[in-house]
Amino acid sequence: MENITDYLCKYKDYVFAIGVTTAEYIDSLQNFEIRDSDVFVVTYPKSGTVWTQQIVTLICKSDFKDSDLYPNNLEKMPWLEYREGRPDYSLRPSPRLFASHLTPVLMPPGLKDRAKVIYVMRNPKDNVVSYYHFCRAWAALETPKSFDEFLQQYLLGQVGAASWFDHVRVWNSQREQYNILFLTYEDMIMDLHTAVRKICHFLERDLDEAAINRVVEKATFKNMKTDPKANYEFLPEELLNREKSRFLRKGTIGDWKNTFTVAQSEMFDRVYQERMGDLPLKFIWEMN
Ligand code: A3P
Repeated sequence: MENITDYLCKYKDYVFAIGVTTAEYIDSLQNFEIRDSDVFVVTYPKSGTVWTQQIVTLICKSDFKDSDLYPNNLEKMPWLEYREGRPDYSLRPSPRLFASHLTPVLMPPGLKDRAKVIYVMRNPKDNVVSYYHFCRAWAALETPKSFDEFLQQYLLGQVGAASWFDHVRVWNSQREQYNILFLTYEDMIMDLHTAVRKICHFLERDLDEAAINRVVEKATFKNMKTDPKANYEFLPEELLNREKSRFLRKGTIGDWKNTFTVAQSEMFDRVYQERMGDLPLKFIWEMN
């Protein structure tokens, strides 16, 4: 891994926070055995990962025979790329759930024709604002000096998980090779019930209407914010400074308008058009 700043290191097409994993472990994922029953939630950071994690763990609730085994969503659906301090994932009983921010090239090759992948994307203006606030609170990442500075780094892909543009493009361009469901954060905001139904259908989990309603209720921003198993407040204060930001911060579409200047927004629109204009993506950028 090549250090690119005091906090970040590059490995293949990806950028990790220094010290969170090793090249050896990431390489070992090439031999990681995927099972047909595995479910992966894959995102670029700050796109609604912990939200989707809550929805999927609730949908798959009956699979966790011993509910005391995993005290929170992080343990129920651990991040593939970080194994430090956790038992060998190959020892976990099926069906296994994983979260990941990795790009296809770093993923276990077996993911291609086995398992199910849910890829959640978010409009990049809200994404970068959410990421900016997260960096202010997350100890392993550099606190940005200003939003403008962070925006430049984000556009260059000099942030954890590298470039949003590349991440979204590469996963979209390889969609034929995976059993993959694409969702947007904005779709989930606009109609959570439909999003939960779609996920149930994709996962082949036959939940009745009452059970779907229970998942929706537990996945609302308000309820998740106070759910100690889902809100990530269980992380130590040294890692996440709650006075600066939280995993569940605003939970809306269009918060970027409170942070971007007009000039930054126009510049971003140009970059977006240049880099993503050829893809059939449709994001909702603001609420009417
Ligand atoms: P904001 O910072 O814009 O509020 P991730 O889980 O990938 O780190 O993404 C975090 C973002 O998802 C945060 O966005 C957070 O508030 C939002 N989020 C988490 N749970 C949510 C929920 N139940 N409803 C809406 N947004 C949610």
